Amino acid sequence: MFMELGRMSSIDMIFRHDFSQNLTWALWARDQPPWFTSNMYGVQPHLTVLENDGNTHSVVIVNSNAQQFSMLSGPSIQYITTGGLLDIYFFLGPTPENTVEQYTEAVGRPQMPPYWALGFQLCRVGYTTIDRMQAAVNRTSFYEIPQDVQYGDIDIMHKSLDFTYSRENFPGLPEYVRELKGKGIKFVTILDPCISSGEDPEEYRPLKLGDEMDVWVKKADGTPALGKVWPEHPCYFPDYSRNSTREWWRILIKEFHDLLEYDGLWIDMNEPANFDQGEVSGGCEANNLNYPPFVPSIAGGGNLSQQTICADYKQDAGDHYNVHSLYGWFQSEPTLAGTREGSGKRSLVLSRSTFLGSGHWVAHWLGDNWSQWDNLHFSIIGMLQFNQFGVPFSGSDICGFLGNTTEQMCQRWMQLGAFYPFARNHNGGDVDQDPGIWGPEVAESSKKALLVRYTLLPYLYTLFYRTVTEGGTVARALWHNFPTDFNTWGVDRQFMWGTGLLINPVLDENATKVEAYFPNARFYDYYDGSEMAVRGNVTELDAPLDKINVFVAGGNVLPTQEPAVNTDISRNNPFGLIVALDDEGKASGSLYYDDGDSIGTIENEEYFLADFLAENNTIISTVVKNGYQGMSDKRLTTIRLLGIKGTFEDLMVNGTIHTSWTTMPSGEVLISNLTLSLTSGFTISWTCQNCQ
Ligand code: NOJ
Repeated sequence: MFMELGRMSSIDMIFRHDFSQNLTWALWARDQPPWFTSNMYGVQPHLTVLENDGNTHSVVIVNSNAQQFSMLSGPSIQYITTGGLLDIYFFLGPTPENTVEQYTEAVGRPQMPPYWALGFQLCRVGYTTIDRMQAAVNRTSFYEIPQDVQYGDIDIMHKSLDFTYSRENFPGLPEYVRELKGKGIKFVTILDPCISSGEDPEEYRPLKLGDEMDVWVKKADGTPALGKVWPEHPCYFPDYSRNSTREWWRILIKEFHDLLEYDGLWIDMNEPANFDQGEVSGGCEANNLNYPPFVPSIAGGGNLSQQTICADYKQDAGDHYNVHSLYGWFQSEPTLAGTREGSGKRSLVLSRSTFLGSGHWVAHWLGDNWSQWDNLHFSIIGMLQFNQFGVPFSGSDICGFLGNTTEQMCQRWMQLGAFYPFARNHNGGDVDQDPGIWGPEVAESSKKALLVRYTLLPYLYTLFYRTVTEGGTVARALWHNFPTDFNTWGVDRQFMWGTGLLINPVLDENATKVEAYFPNARFYDYYDGSEMAVRGNVTELDAPLDKINVFVAGGNVLPTQEPAVNTDISRNNPFGLIVALDDEGKASGSLYYDDGDSIGTIENEEYFLADFLAENNTIISTVVKNGYQGMSDKRLTTIRLLGIKGTFEDLMVNGTIHTSWTTMPSGEVLISNLTLSLTSGFTISWTCQNCQ
C-alpha cells in the first residue's frame, strides 16, 4: 500500500498486497500512465501494516532517490535505495486512522478545500475551441446536472505557452470565465513547468523574468538545461528548490490572474516530464549520476533520464539525481501561495506529482488512467492510498482519460466518481464524455448520483475539517472502520466516507447486481432508510443502471443541505440531518461550516461548528463555535431518523410538541417543517412504545 498502483496485465490489482506474488515496486517520479508495477507520477514510500489482531502501524521512509520495494513471500520486504537519507519513521497507531493522524501531524495536514471544489468538476484536453467548451457546460446545465468547476487544459493556451490563452481558438475566454462565475461556476486552469526558450523574451515575460531572476535547472557546466514538452521550441525547467524561482513563479501566477480570473490552478507534467531523453539532443553525459551501477526496476529500461531530465543536472537542493522525485513537491507550496495572492481566496492547487507531505498544499488526481472497466476498480485503490498518504482530496479522471469510454462505462463511472472526494470528469480521448453528451438516461443517473453528493456536502466538508485539524482520512477502506473484522481486510470494491457512509459501486460491464459486504453493525439504505437485514456477511444488491447503492452506517449523524446545480446556490438552502441509530439507539456527528472560500477560517476562528448527539430518544445539538456570521440565517428544516424500533410517538422540539413527522414504510421517521436556527443549539425528543 505504499505507492500508486499501475495497471496490471496478468496479476489482480488489489489494495492489500499479496506477498506471494513477489512483486517489485520501483519509485522514481515519472510521466507514466498507470501500468503494471511501473513507477508513476508520485513517490510515497509509505507502508501501512495491519497486524493479525487488527492493530495497525505505518512505516515511512524519507528518501527521494530512485528506490524499490519488493514484497516477497516469507513474507518480507526488501528495500533498496540508490542514495540519500535513510530516515525511517514508525507511526504506531494502534488504529489505522491513528496512523494517518500521526503521519499527517509529522508531514503537515491538508488545507481546507474551498467548498466549491467539493462540487462536480468538468475538464477535457481537446475542446480545441471555446465553442466546444461552452457546449459541454451548456449540455451539463441543460440536464441540470450539478457543476461547480470548469477547467482549461493546454489547448486554451497560445502555442502551448504557460500564462497565456489563445485569442484565436478561445476568443473572449476571460469574459466567459467571468460569465461562468456569475452563474456560480469556478474556473481552474493548467500550468506546466516547462517554459519555452524559443519566444522573444520581450514578448514573453515568463522567459525574460526567468532569465533575469536566474530560475532554471542547470547543466553541470552552469548553462540552463533544455528539454521538450508541449511548446514548439525546447524549454527550460524552473528549479523550484531555489528561492528566486519560487518568487518568480508566485509573481507570474499572481499577474496571470489579471489576465484570466482563475479560481485554482492545476500543475501538470511536474515529474518533471520531458519528451526527450535527458538532453534535447538525446541522452545524458556518461557519468555515475546519469548511469549509476545499480538502478531500481523503473520503467524506461532502467534509464533514469528516460522521459525526464538528466540526473546530473544541478538544482539548488542538490543533484537532480537526489531530488528528482521532489520536483512537484517543491513546486506545490509556491503555487498555492501564488494562487492565493492572485485570487485573494483559499483557492485550490491540483498536482500530478506528489511526495511525502504534498497533501499539505495540494489535491491530486490519479493521472492518465484508461477508459477501461478495470480502471474503475483501480481508482478506488488509488483514492484509498492517497487518503492514507495524507492527500485526502483525490480521485481519478471520471470516465477515464486515455482512449474512448463507452456510454455504460461513463454512466457507472459518473456514479462512482460522485463519491470520490475530488470528482472531476476529464478526458483526452477522441469522443466527448461530459455527462450531458450521452443523452437523457446517463444525464439523469449522473444527476441523481451527484444530487446525493451535493446533499451530503456538509458531511463531506466536515470530514475535511476533521482531517485538517486531527488528521485521518476522508474516503477510507472498510477495514479502517472495522479493523478487527478480517472480512473487511481485502475489501477494495467498496469504500466509506468517514464512519458514516458506505458506497457500493458497480465496477463491471453489464452488471445490474453488486456484491457487498456489510460489517456487523446497522446499515441503512440511503434512499429509503430501510435497515439492511444482512450483518457480518456478503449480500447481493440490485444495481440497475440508474442507481449506485449507498448506505448510512448506524451510530452516525450526517449533516445535509438541499442540493442545487452548484454550491453557490445550494449553500443558501436549508440544512437537514440524517440520524442513523446504532444498536444502542445512539448516534453522533458534527457540522463544520464557514464561508467556503476565505483563507484561514479555522485559524481565525471564523467558522461554525456544532456537535449532534442522539441517545435516549433525544437529539441534542450543541454549538461548539459560532464564528461564521453567515450561519445566523441558516435553518435546519428536516431530520431523517433511521433505526427507530417500536412505535414512534409524540415529538417535542425544544420542549414544544411538533406534529410534522411521518413514519415511512421503511421505518424511517421523517421530521419536517422545522425552522431551527443552527446557531442556538436545540433539543428534539420523542416517546416511543416498545422501543427496546
Ligand atoms: C497530462 C495530464 O495528465 C492530463 O491530465 C492533461 O490533460 C494532459 N497532460 C494535457 O495537458
